[in-house]
Order: sequence, then structure tokens, then C-alpha cells
Amino acid sequence: MKILHIDCSPREDAYSRKLSAAMVARLLALVSDAEIVRRDLGMKPVPHPDADYATSLSAPDKLTGEDTHTATSMSEQLIREVEAADILVIGTPMNNFTVPSVLKAWIDQILRMGRSIGASPTGEKIGLLQDKPVFIGIASGGVFTGDEAKQPDFLIPYLTAALGCVGIETLQFFPLQATAFLDSEQLAENQQALLATMDTTKICTDQPVG
Ligand SMILES: Cc1cc2nc3c(=O)[nH]c(=O)nc-3n(C[C@H](O)[C@H](O)[C@H](O)COP(=O)(O)O)c2cc1C
Repeated sequence: MKILHIDCSPREDAYSRKLSAAMVARLLALVSDAEIVRRDLGMKPVPHPDADYATSLSAPDKLTGEDTHTATSMSEQLIREVEAADILVIGTPMNNFTVPSVLKAWIDQILRMGRSIGASPTGEKIGLLQDKPVFIGIASGGVFTGDEAKQPDFLIPYLTAALGCVGIETLQFFPLQATAFLDSEQLAENQQALLATMDTTKICTDQPVG
């Protein structure tokens, strides 16, 4: 089993990194021989779409086979990484109510018409990737879910739509909120409470699920 572990914070000591690492550890406790593949978007961002990639997506017929191949090589590498994984674990901060730009840049390389997205005869988008469990840990300075929310949430709906668009729909979100207000003890407690809600029943384990 392969777990693709993605982090998005530029901070070494990030809450979202600790949360995603704890999620991976919990999965490893269930599937001890799982292989971990790392994609650290926070420390090593993938490029934003450049002119060649934008052209290949908007007017594929204007490029030759070789041009298209070059323009989409990063996208192809990242899509294959997702395809090869059985599980995705993403640790991300909330930035200005949504995903940070490094995660958006990754999404821009993953969602590609004709590769990860097809179209029905009537023009509806069809996801072409296989569904898989995705565990998403979010660190936010303030509160964005529940009755105490003080800000809009474009992160969960956006990631749900973006990954859903390529056919990945089994998402679980774990928001570690109010990092700007809670002390480290409270945050560690909240993280433990979030981890306890991870639903791992869809994962083939080598141990009884408990
Ligand atoms: C550019 C930027 C934008 C942010 N926007 C929000 C926001 O919209 N809502 C919020 O609750 N916190 C916001 N924060 C705070 C971060 O979400 C918070 O510090 C979080 O803990 C960072 O994640 P990390 O600890 O994993 O790095 C923002 C921080 C930065 C740097």
C-alpha cells in the first residue's frame, strides 16, 4: 500500500505538518508496511502553470505532440503520483479562507482536461482518476467551522469540488482551528480528538481496526 503524504505549510514547525504526520502514523499503525511517498509543496512548491502548460490546456491542437509532452511533463508526474497512491494525506494551512497558493498550484497541475477529467456528450465534467481515501488536516488561525465560525470557509468546499472533479470523492477533513488563540496543550488535545475521528474502515489493514 502506498500513502502519498503532502504538506503545504512553509513552516518547519507547522501545526498542519504535525497533524498530517500524526495521521500518517495512525495509518502506519494499521498498515505497517505501507510505503510513504512525500510531496512537500510547502518546502518545494511546484510551478504555477506557465505559458506552454496554459496553451496546452486551452488549445491542445496548437501544439505538436512533443511540445505537449514537454508542457505537461510536471502535470503528468504529479498525476501519476496520485494514481500510484492508495491513500492521500494532506496537511494544509488555511490561507485567506481557502487553500494556500502552493496547494492551488498543485491542483492546477492535477486537474487536466483529457487526462484526469473527461467530458460527457452534454459537456459535464467526468473524473477519470480512481477514487481513494483522502485525509486532509487543516490548521487555521481562527475558527471557520461550526457555530463559533467567525469567517467563511472556501477551503473544504473548494477541495471537495476540485478533487471530486477528477473522481476523488472519499474525503475526510480534520480542522485544527484557532491556532492563533489556543496554547500548545489545548491544540495537542484538539489534535488527539480529531485523530480519534479518523474513519479508517475503508482501508485494508494488516491489524484489526480499533
Ligand atoms: C497568508 C496567510 C493567510 C491566512 N489566512 C487565514 C485565514 O483566512 N483564516 C484563518 O483562520 N487563519 C489564517 N491564517 C493563519 C494560519 O491559518 C494559521 O497560522 C495556521 O496555523 C498556519 O498553519 P501551519 O501552522 O500549518 O503553518 C493565515 C496565515 C497566513 C500566513
